[in-house]
Amino acid sequence: MARFEIHGGKPLSGEIRVSGAKNAALKFLAAALLTEEEVRLRNVPEIEDIKRMVEIIRELGVQVDHPEPHQYNIRAASLKTSVLSRELAPKIRPSMLLIGPLLVRTGSATLPHPGGCAIGRRPTDLFVHGFRKLGATVEEGVDERIFRAGTLRGGRFVFPTPSVTATEALMIMAVRTSGRTELVNVAMEPEIPALAEFLNSCGAKITGGGTPIIIIEGVDRIRGGEISIMPDRIEAGSFAALAAATKSDLWIRGCNPKHLEVPLLMLEKIGVKFEVASDSIHVMPSDDLEAMNITTHEYPGFPTDLQAPFTVLLTQAKGVALVHETIFEGRLFYIEHLNKMGAKIVLSDQHRAVVEGPTPLRGSTLESPDIRAGLALVIAALAAKGKSTINNVYQIDRGYERIEERLRAISADIRRIE
Ligand code: EPU
Repeated sequence: MARFEIHGGKPLSGEIRVSGAKNAALKFLAAALLTEEEVRLRNVPEIEDIKRMVEIIRELGVQVDHPEPHQYNIRAASLKTSVLSRELAPKIRPSMLLIGPLLVRTGSATLPHPGGCAIGRRPTDLFVHGFRKLGATVEEGVDERIFRAGTLRGGRFVFPTPSVTATEALMIMAVRTSGRTELVNVAMEPEIPALAEFLNSCGAKITGGGTPIIIIEGVDRIRGGEISIMPDRIEAGSFAALAAATKSDLWIRGCNPKHLEVPLLMLEKIGVKFEVASDSIHVMPSDDLEAMNITTHEYPGFPTDLQAPFTVLLTQAKGVALVHETIFEGRLFYIEHLNKMGAKIVLSDQHRAVVEGPTPLRGSTLESPDIRAGLALVIAALAAKGKSTINNVYQIDRGYERIEERLRAISADIRRIE
């Protein structure tokens, strides 16, 4: 297993470019199975989760060419099986997005039961209820779940709580399900309207992407198409937290600040100096940071995926801040690592942490728990004086492309040890 060795405590400077969004690219890869024609994706991040998804769809008989970095050409002319890999599918949750294309094209989809997850319970009830509502039948086996097309037809499904992937999964299937589907109380994350827009450019009829109600008129055929994946808002927001926590002068290029309105507002309230242009954020060294409470919320609220990087930043701010993680119950356990580094954070319960700052951080040996907390530990290590070792770098590689090279380019002292 690879690890990072980081010597921190120095400000960074220069420019860092944001990659294509993981949580958009994964969904486009799945949606490409709706059509027999070629779908070309550009600006795809070269990360481990994308590799896993490509492996999964190749096993289904899909042709995936990778002619150059960041470009993937997908042709699902025919599908040779509708059974997802027992080994690969539980590794990434977006494999659930393949249910719809498999149902409409082959009449069934068999998925291994999802494995455990580092960020807490990851229920799948909304997928089961939603697919049933659109006419599918669901059979629970010992090791797997079998979805069958039954009499697929449009329908109305009300989400008791918005779910990003379940919204996308039902939207993708409804596109090729006859009749009208109405999805109510859906997630509104920017990756969802982007997916709707792309599918519409391929012949789908979706309205309301980015609002709480999405309406889909099913069509018989989806054409191929081409799209450049939108910038990763979570990566951009994490780089802003990195710059602020290390008192750096950093230009974050190629991002869309409109997708980060609440996190940028929080930075402003914390006292971070920055300027925003249409596709960049310039963070300047800032002293006298002030504690501010953070509550995660579905988009356009403060994203749970930025909770960990911002908690690291709060260790450098003066006062007491409450971090309230409302989306997942297992997403605060990385805090023990920050305390090992000298932070003063009390975990009140699974959802709440109280951060007292400012606390100088010192280097330590750490374990990357999941994608986002993994990057947060990198940020903490770069803010800390001395040497840190971060183990289990695979978790970071799942979501961030060549992160150590890109951080070295802004003068971070970080190296990968295989
Ligand atoms: N939920 C249910 N039942 C379900 C599905 C979800 O109760 O069937 C609950 C979850 O337990 C959670 C809430 O709904 O409390 C929201 O979860 P959601 O389904 O929206 O999360 P997700 O779609 O599994 C995506 C991102 C996550 C991100 C969340 C929240 C992808 C591939 N993943 O997950 O990203 O944290 O939305 O924004 O899009 C990451 O990139 O590291 C990551 C974890």
